[in-house]
Amino acid sequence: MPDAAALARLTARLDKPVVMVGLMGVGKSTVGKRLSQCLNTPFVDADDEVVKAAQMSIPEIFDRFGEDYFRDGERRVIARLIEENAGRPAVIATGGGAFADDETRALILDRAIAVWLYADLDTLVARVGRKNTRPLLTGRNPREVLGELMERRGPAYAQAPIRVISDAGPQSNGVARIIAALEDYLA
Ligand code: S3P
Repeated sequence: MPDAAALARLTARLDKPVVMVGLMGVGKSTVGKRLSQCLNTPFVDADDEVVKAAQMSIPEIFDRFGEDYFRDGERRVIARLIEENAGRPAVIATGGGAFADDETRALILDRAIAVWLYADLDTLVARVGRKNTRPLLTGRNPREVLGELMERRGPAYAQAPIRVISDAGPQSNGVARIIAALEDYLA
């Protein structure tokens, strides 16, 4: 990990928010938050902002209004977060489906630096097992759903200019890899 002065120099060069993308369970929020602490930037989680705006939990939104309605809200919320953080360093974590939405992805690619955090299926399955807040997994086999989403969303995620593995090791490894990748990207 670079020293504090080097991190400050990196932050000073960031003229766009960093947006974390990738599948459920990969660690976008945890790693994104730690990244923002290292870079000393604001952090915002798009899923949390969707919940705040709708005043409903994500399972409740899916239940009552369906996935398309959730995607519309998610698209608007991410557009607002990107606008609010335009031209400045910040870290925004998104929900796993956000970058698979054509409009949201185009906006992120245009106005932010997308970081695709990826992991193998075993790691994802182990990580999602700990939480029961994901409607796409409720009552289904997480390995099957995640495997299918990995295939379907892979081409979208692959458009991110930065890709970083988030393996089973400590999350700080992921943060250090993103920092190194950002150094290269901005060089
Ligand atoms: C979703 C991922 C979730 C949340 C919603 C839908 C998806 O976010 O946005 O349940 O379509 O992959 P996380 O990736 O933070 O779990």
